[in-house]
Amino acid sequence: MDAELTWSRVMARTHAAPDGFSATQRAESHFTTSVDVGDHIASIVMARCLATAQRHGIDDPWIVDVGAGSGRLLGQLLGLGFPGERLLGIDVRPAPDLDVCWIQGVAPECVPRFSGLLFAHEFLDDVPVEVVADGQVLDRDGDVVGPADTDDLAWLRRWTRSDSGVVGRRRDVVWQALTSRVVAGEAIAVDYPRGLPVGHWRGRRTTPVAGVDICAGVDLRSCRAATGGRLVPQHRMLADAVASDLQEAAELAVLRDRDGLGAFQWLITGGTDEHASVGSPA
Ligand SMILES: C[S@@+](CC[C@H](N)C(=O)[O-])C[C@H]1O[C@@H](n2cnc3c(N)ncnc32)[C@H](O)[C@@H]1O
Repeated sequence: MDAELTWSRVMARTHAAPDGFSATQRAESHFTTSVDVGDHIASIVMARCLATAQRHGIDDPWIVDVGAGSGRLLGQLLGLGFPGERLLGIDVRPAPDLDVCWIQGVAPECVPRFSGLLFAHEFLDDVPVEVVADGQVLDRDGDVVGPADTDDLAWLRRWTRSDSGVVGRRRDVVWQALTSRVVAGEAIAVDYPRGLPVGHWRGRRTTPVAGVDICAGVDLRSCRAATGGRLVPQHRMLADAVASDLQEAAELAVLRDRDGLGAFQWLITGGTDEHASVGSPA
């Protein structure tokens, strides 16, 4: 029995350690996300930011991209005309060469309070999970480590109606912390449905061994229970998007594919407090 090798520890090491995969590798060399398929996701993000700013009377809204990776989304937002001085990327990775603000650190702890839109695209799937079978925590070799934490067991029973599965309780806690940073505005998490931890390396799914990217699908229903909000599948978020040429039509088809990226869920959560003017979050 080696508690060092529980999935939660393996994933924490992968994404939060200075020498882990996330801090040392370029994620985009190992997999692509919806953000890499045209700038349609950026267009939705910008439109939602401007709409929430209007609703809340925010004069100068920020867009804060948590788990911003290469900064690709922020670059697209710059291209769409959003001011770089109110774009903030947060990642354990160093800042990209872009005219935007950046915090290199571990979220949610390093995320400042701000007004505007918080966007976490394929971020929660990196937040550590525990894998439990019949009430026992398993290590990554499938061996029993010991009994599951009682709160983890309660989470499992609520969301899987069993004593076995992937425990996403820490995602709920992290999502709650992230949404609490939004003084006024909206917070959006986008992710794929729950599943066991998987590895990625150079564009392929691999065994989740040390050194590769390790992530696990997200039960956004439980995150929503923690903060409120609504869940919308990606194909519906893009229902009104219009292609201006063949390339965009192909991109939208990929993003709307209900057997692929179109099945990703968007959790849209309103900000908590009245609008309060905050200074630069960077
Ligand atoms: C799957 S990638 C997604 C990148 C980008 N949002 C996209 O959708 O293309 C997840 C990103 O989150 C970052 N990350 C994971 N855990 C983190 C943490 N606790 N704090 C800050 N960044 C983290 C990783 O470094 C990685 O760049």
